[in-house]
Amino acid sequence: MIVLGIETSCDDTGAAIVDSGKLRSNVVYDQQIHQTYGGVVPEIAARMHEQKIIPVVTGALQQAGCALGDLDGIAVTYGPGLAGALVVGLNFAKGLAQSLQAPFIGINHMEGHLWANFLERPLTPDQFPFICLLVSGGHTHLWLVAGPGEYTLLGRTLDDAAGEAFDKGARLLGLGYPGGPAIQHAAVDGDALKFAFPRPKAESEGLDYSFSGLKTALFYQIKRMDANFKDDLADLAASYQQAIIDSLMSRLVKAVEVTGIDRVCIAGGVSANNLLRQSLDNWSHEAAVSISYPAIEYCTDNAAMIALAGYVRLAAGQSAALGLDIYPSLRMDENAAI
Ligand SMILES: Nc1ncnc2c1ncn2[C@@H]1O[C@H](COP(=O)(O)OP(=O)(O)OP(=O)(O)O)[C@@H](O)[C@H]1O
Ligand SMILES: [Mg+2]
Repeated sequence: MIVLGIETSCDDTGAAIVDSGKLRSNVVYDQQIHQTYGGVVPEIAARMHEQKIIPVVTGALQQAGCALGDLDGIAVTYGPGLAGALVVGLNFAKGLAQSLQAPFIGINHMEGHLWANFLERPLTPDQFPFICLLVSGGHTHLWLVAGPGEYTLLGRTLDDAAGEAFDKGARLLGLGYPGGPAIQHAAVDGDALKFAFPRPKAESEGLDYSFSGLKTALFYQIKRMDANFKDDLADLAASYQQAIIDSLMSRLVKAVEVTGIDRVCIAGGVSANNLLRQSLDNWSHEAAVSISYPAIEYCTDNAAMIALAGYVRLAAGQSAALGLDIYPSLRMDENAAI
């Protein structure tokens, strides 16, 4: 079964081909124009998707050596994301499905991030259950994954997402956008113990996260240091990054203790973070927990993960009606619109 995946939920225009669960091509146009504004401008994102979607889809087909007529199904992100951006991908996919008379399916972007873990290893029943820490620009969620479509929320952020904490912290530090890679880079030779930033919720009972206090602590630290903060940029970045990763790890470790499930994966843009990956590797050696994370190129937004998620659902006999609408606030355990 050959599935075309399309992703336009934010500022990356993506298309990919998955053939019987194996990735054949993956093309992403990264809309770098948003760096000029220090964040994603929704209207510009939608207009760039309009311009790029045809060349990106054509590129994915060519890279895979496929023609439109070879497609057995089309999968597209229908939420969560920016409304104007989602509409472009969804309408394009519907038009294509209608003209090819091919099955069509709406995919939850966050479910896509999750399946990015199975782009390079087989998705077999013995992989379940596992715990997934979904850490991206808009989400920080801990999920218990019992099988495809069987998700139980264990914990979530009560305010900012981890990626948002990186992005807002980078802005305070005068670093670029996106903030995660910028802070990671600035922190390379920094002393992570120099500044004692709070570890929100580290001691509390539940599995929820909170990052807004950490961002405020950075704001006041910079204010106290005035213009001199640039002299300690590496130490500030390293200490701030360490606080985010310590918070992420503390709930993940607790989730494994609470559930007794010792298989863990991470997904989403923040799963590209080196310190998070190192911390997971160290933990897996100490605690005999099995860890996996996607290749770096599949952590941030891409259509490979959407094509695979689409393949899983289409192969299970699911499809959507052409009346499917976008769902900008879609949760991972909701599929009401399909
Ligand atoms: N190496 C890294 N370290 C930390 N954070 C990173 C790294 N690389 C990317 N990020 C962060 O990942 C986020 C982007 O990830 P992603 O593309 O998954 O988010 P999104 O699609 O905007 O949000 P969502 O998936 O929640 O809708 C940004 O906040 C970015 O700063
Ligand atoms: Mg994303």
